[in-house]
Amino acid sequence: MDLQKLACEPSPAAYNEYRHALVPGCGSGYDVVLLAQYGWRAKGIDLSPIAIDRARRIASDSPDSDGATFAVENFFDTQAPTGGYQLIFDYTFFCALDPKLREAWARKMSQLLAKHGILVTLMFPTKQLTDNPPPHTSAPEDYTRVLSPYFDLVGETIAGKGPASRREIEMIALWRLKEAEQQPKH
Ligand SMILES: C[S@@+](CC[C@H](N)C(=O)[O-])C[C@H]1O[C@@H](n2cnc3c(N)ncnc32)[C@H](O)[C@@H]1O
Repeated sequence: MDLQKLACEPSPAAYNEYRHALVPGCGSGYDVVLLAQYGWRAKGIDLSPIAIDRARRIASDSPDSDGATFAVENFFDTQAPTGGYQLIFDYTFFCALDPKLREAWARKMSQLLAKHGILVTLMFPTKQLTDNPPPHTSAPEDYTRVLSPYFDLVGETIAGKGPASRREIEMIALWRLKEAEQQPKH
């Protein structure tokens, strides 16, 4: 299965006039720029003003990145555009959070996404990397435990294209938001 193709090409949820994507904990924002270059209206958010300043500089130096926007925002307080995001990309955000926040992370993901929206989780590190986290170990079953009430797993695979040092401990998965009536009521 070509997860990159699935994630980057329009899903049923993306047949709107605009395709909105979110990258929470975007750091320097390279993923936001890449999504903008694929044609998404991509928003990167981070708690760190320094990271967001840097991301804005990187985006302004990158071609075809007009669709990239950035804000200093807490993921747990951020609001979706009308209709929700069609795509959310989590790369090393989950592993940066205190594991006590994982249920809240999953619930917030479900609230931000549009009907049929997709969540891409680049899962790292899938095995314990340090006794002094973050990064917190983020194995596929850790994601499944908190996401399965809200999402169906479309597929997961070894990420493959990352740095060689990460190949054994990095996977990518794609999740599709369940119909509202199949999700827990809050
Ligand atoms: C490990 S870094 C990931 C950076 C980026 N994804 C990358 O690949 O370069 C985690 C980021 O999440 C941000 N962060 C942590 N908690 C956050 C929250 N509640 N809301 C928004 N950003 C948060 C941190 O400031 C940090 O930049």
